[in-house]
Amino acid sequence: MKLHINENQKKGVIAPEIYGHFSEHLGRCIYDGLYVGETSEIPNEKGMRSDVVEALKEINIPVLRWPGGCFADEYHWKDGIGPKDQRKKMVNTHWGGTTEDNSFGTHEYFELCRQLGCKTYVCGNVGSGSVQEMSEWVEYMTFDGVSPMADLRKQNGHEQAWKLDYFGVGNENWGCGGNMTPDHYAHLYRRYQTYVRNYHKDRPVFKICGGADAADYEWTDTVLHECFRNPAPESAHGFMDGLSVHYYVGVEKGEHKGSATQFSEEEWNATLKRALGMEELIRRHGAIMDQYDPDKKIGMIIDEWGCWHDVEVGTNPGFLYQQNTMRDAVVAGATLNIFNKHCDRVKMACIAQIVNVLQSVVLTEGSRMLLTPTYHVFHMYKRHQGAELIGSYLEEEGNDSSVQESVSIDRDGVVTVTLTNYSLQESQDLQIVFEERKPADVKGYIVQGAMNAYNTFDQPENVVEEEFTEFTLEDRGLSFVIPPRSVMMFRIGE
Ligand code: AHR
Repeated sequence: MKLHINENQKKGVIAPEIYGHFSEHLGRCIYDGLYVGETSEIPNEKGMRSDVVEALKEINIPVLRWPGGCFADEYHWKDGIGPKDQRKKMVNTHWGGTTEDNSFGTHEYFELCRQLGCKTYVCGNVGSGSVQEMSEWVEYMTFDGVSPMADLRKQNGHEQAWKLDYFGVGNENWGCGGNMTPDHYAHLYRRYQTYVRNYHKDRPVFKICGGADAADYEWTDTVLHECFRNPAPESAHGFMDGLSVHYYVGVEKGEHKGSATQFSEEEWNATLKRALGMEELIRRHGAIMDQYDPDKKIGMIIDEWGCWHDVEVGTNPGFLYQQNTMRDAVVAGATLNIFNKHCDRVKMACIAQIVNVLQSVVLTEGSRMLLTPTYHVFHMYKRHQGAELIGSYLEEEGNDSSVQESVSIDRDGVVTVTLTNYSLQESQDLQIVFEERKPADVKGYIVQGAMNAYNTFDQPENVVEEEFTEFTLEDRGLSFVIPPRSVMMFRIGE
């Protein structure tokens, strides 16, 4: 099989935010996973776990969505500010019915993002919150002058406004966010977003409209019909800058989704097939968006995606704690390749969720932490962040290919090629052929393993990223064998 690369064909910048993450007050994501509190024996800075923060910085985490998810539409932000011992406790009704002490709130979130060096993405409450509550939150976070909310923030110890990069107006309002019809949400969206004020004209908040569940194209069409065609005078993009889509991958088996680690070859194939469905989803939602927004001014924001399996045996079903195998790694690699190839429309994507929930990059247990196979994929693919997508295609011989690719070129002229092979048994001979480039300084990396190989706290290096040297340099490319069940990355200079 040949992979043709036209390094002269530039197709637009891959937004770094495509490599974004999602953190919700769910199970052990925030508490335990990211935040342990300042008095914890686990090493921390201002309560944030230092090991986890360091690991996330290594993958250049570009943006972190918070506080949910379903949690967002029952979160009342004022309960999470002020002296910690006076913060109201709350019951997390969506996720396990646990009582939370609100010790992680707005100030802690911005502190976490500061430590991570990433952009901020806060999701507001439309389902059970008021317009006033949402508008005051934005004022609290972003207004620098004298005002009731800015004064309250200062009183709580933060003099300067924070930089709020993205704001979501509700989450899954077709379901846990209020069970609304698309018309109803669209009308509410128009109203709520009006009060997401831009206090800094030089760095406006990017407003995200709550979008569809997977293939609900009617939702996309209705909200765009109501909310895009009527540009607000203050915004070049009408009432929104982005529209979200959520898509999870799991094998449906009645009530169950299937084990994260004990699965058959059929389940592997079904999972991968569903993951590759992302391509059609982007194309079809994108086609609707093109009708309203042919210049692609608004971004498709896939702010929840990933594998959703059954929880680990013996864990709280409401905590969505699952292990992460080579299958998850291949799903991540293939999905990220799809996002890269659609970077003209996809402007952000957040894998669900960052730590200890669903398809995490990091798992923790007490003071221990492990990096999942999915983490290593994000580590290899980070080279695409902010690089320019370039033309590439696989010339297939024979049957449907099990290989996916995407290729970019960075500011230093180095090409990054990422590849996945989801075949369970078959390796593939692959020859990379450039239009003109004579490759030099080539480095290869690979994540591979048995289909259900995974890392444990006792054996955290069962699946890791390794250097790959078994390639032959050729005049205008290189050739090698891509093993089954693998994700690869090449860096190619000239
Ligand atoms: O990520 C878990 C949940 O999945 C989120 O809270 C919700 O938005 C989605 O249904």
